[in-house]
Amino acid sequence: MRVDFHSHVVPGVDDGSKNTEMSLEMLRRMRRQGTDLVVATPHYYVGRTAPEEYLEKISDACYLLREAIQQSGEEVPKPALGYEVYYFKGISQANFINLFTIGNSPYLLLELPTRPLTNADVEDIFRIRANQGLIPILAHVERYLAFESFDFLQDMIRQGELLAQVNADSLLKWSTRKKALAFLKNGTAQFLGSDAHNLDQRAPRLEEAMAVIEKKAGKELVQRIDRDSEALIEKCL
Ligand SMILES: [Fe+2]
Repeated sequence: MRVDFHSHVVPGVDDGSKNTEMSLEMLRRMRRQGTDLVVATPHYYVGRTAPEEYLEKISDACYLLREAIQQSGEEVPKPALGYEVYYFKGISQANFINLFTIGNSPYLLLELPTRPLTNADVEDIFRIRANQGLIPILAHVERYLAFESFDFLQDMIRQGELLAQVNADSLLKWSTRKKALAFLKNGTAQFLGSDAHNLDQRAPRLEEAMAVIEKKAGKELVQRIDRDSEALIEKCL
């Protein structure tokens, strides 16, 4: 099963899709590219909106999207709801973050800040699982390579404390392709996400990325990603 683990297809809630028409068109493209299931992961920034208020906003937008899908009568990938939670200090102690996982699962798509992480931040990320039983999936892990703490993050992934996702677009750019491929090959990342925000600069391009993986690393790796994706999503739905 082909799963897109990272997308901004929920209409009108973040810097992703602007309205239901755009969301529907993004889903059509995903369908044409062979995506079976997409995880909708709207950004969540603590402090900007109260958790309950944000959840309600997303729930309303999802209702509109489901209605639009139904009215269209088209076969498009049905979005599963998750979030992309931006790291904040004390996240491992914040008991409301279990409201922001994928479906009812313990998996939490976690976006790290662009600033380097301190040792306390790394400890905080490590403690999310110990304190709350949640398993973070690092969003677009290729972006954090320059961090001094990247080795720690990679160790946590090796030990199974964290999972990670790479962005499809990182396989389509020369500057990041090699690293993204290496991450998928050596198990630093297990999953792929389009991180699609719109229909142009940040459009869904999962199929193109999978074609690059197949060409450069072989069909077995594509099959492994699809298999692992299916196993994980089954635990979320
Ligand atoms: Fe994103």
